[in-house]
This record gives sequence, structure tokens and C-alpha cells, in this order.
Amino acid sequence: MITIKISNIFNSKKVQHGYQLNVDSNFHGAIKTNDAEILKQLEIIDLTIEDLETIKGLQPLIKENLEGLVDTFYKTILKADNLKAIIDQNSSTNRLRQTLEKHILEMFNGIIDYEFIEKRITVAKVHIRIGLEPKWYLGAFQNLFSSLSKVINTNISDQVKKAEIMDVISKLLNFEQQLVLEAYEKNKTYPNVNRNMKKLEVI
Ligand code: HEM
Repeated sequence: MITIKISNIFNSKKVQHGYQLNVDSNFHGAIKTNDAEILKQLEIIDLTIEDLETIKGLQPLIKENLEGLVDTFYKTILKADNLKAIIDQNSSTNRLRQTLEKHILEMFNGIIDYEFIEKRITVAKVHIRIGLEPKWYLGAFQNLFSSLSKVINTNISDQVKKAEIMDVISKLLNFEQQLVLEAYEKNKTYPNVNRNMKKLEVI
């Protein structure tokens, strides 16, 4: 029986350093796609099945810290007037909080399959439709990465393990950003994004 000590870094003042990766022995990480391009993308960043098992092992820790992760995310985004305006026009932070919580938790499912990839592309298209320029989207990924990094720093004491885990998380987020960028590239004709890009060209 593995003992798990999880620290919610956003709520608890007392810091523990003992999280142990908690993977069910029946769970097997998997990359389930025949898409040669996707497989090449994963190969380039060296995202392996073992990495996916590490990712799954982190899921309880991420779940414990989900509220804080999403809080930090929106606190930062809402500081930027243009991004706040996009949210106000298209949704509400309450609704977005729920979708983002679900999205982040699913990131740590440890399985990359057709559904995982399609879902990410669909989410990217939602952002294209609302006119979010890719630079803000990518900036938000960095914000998320920094928060995840704080969760890991607080909960994993072994320096080598910590570095390995940060490497794996970085690959996971990078893969999603690859899907996002490609969706933007393929949907250049979306009017809102185009309008924002044009404003930049004029300056
Ligand atoms: C790491 C970056 C981000 C992730 C992972 C993310 C995730 C999501 C997800 C999962 C949804 C739900 C999509 C759906 O309905 O299927 C969503 C919607 C939305 N996101 Fe983001 N988001 C990110 C960055 C941003 C940023 C920077 C903004 C700033 C304006 C933003 C604004 C919105 C809005 C307004 C919607 C609702 C659109 C609608 O329902 O029509 N997102 N996002």
C-alpha cells in the first residue's frame, strides 16, 4: 500500500514534501494513434509511455490543487483588459473555471488517443473563434506551467525526481501547444483572429 501525502499549495500553510507517484498497477499509459505525423511530434519531444505513467501518477496531486491552479490562471488573465473583454463577451469566469478544471485534470489522464487529440484541437478552435491571438494562448500555457511547477516543487522532495517530473509536464504542455499552433495555422481565415493580427501589422 502506497502512502500518499498531498499538499494543496494554494490553501495549506503547512508544507509537506512527500508526494509519491500513485499509479494503479492495472493502469498502462498509452499512445493510441496511427497518425504518423502525431507519432513523429511525440517522438521529437520524446514523450514516452513511461512519461504518461508518470503523468497519471501525478493526477491525484493535480486534482488536489486544481482549484488553486485555476484561480491563479484566471487572476492573471483578468489583469489584462483585452483578455477580460474577450471573456466577458463570450462566457463567464465561473463557467470557464469549470471547463478549465476538467481540461487540466484530463491532461493528466495518461492516455493520448484520438479523443484526447481531437478534444484539444476543438478547444483550440473555440479560442480561434473568439479571436484570442495565439501569443495570449501560449502565454497562458506558461502561466499554467509555472503554477504546476510550484505544485511539484512543494510536494516532491527528491531533486532528481522533481527535475524528471518537470521535464514530463513540459513535454505534455508542449504537445498541446503544438496542436494549438497547428489549429491556428490551419484556420488563418477566422475573421476575429485576422482582425487582431491586422491591427498589429498597421502598428
Ligand atoms: C492554457 C491555455 C488555455 C486553456 C487550456 C483553455 C481551456 C479552455 C477550455 C477547455 C474551454 C472550453 C472549450 C469548449 O467549450 O469546448 C475554453 C473556453 C474559453 N476560453 Fe480558454 N483556455 C486557455 C486560455 C484562454 C485565454 C488566455 C483566454 C482569454 C481570453 C481564454 C478564454 C476562453 C473563453 C472566453 C472561452 C469560452 C468560449 C465559448 O464558450 O464560446 N482561454 N478554454
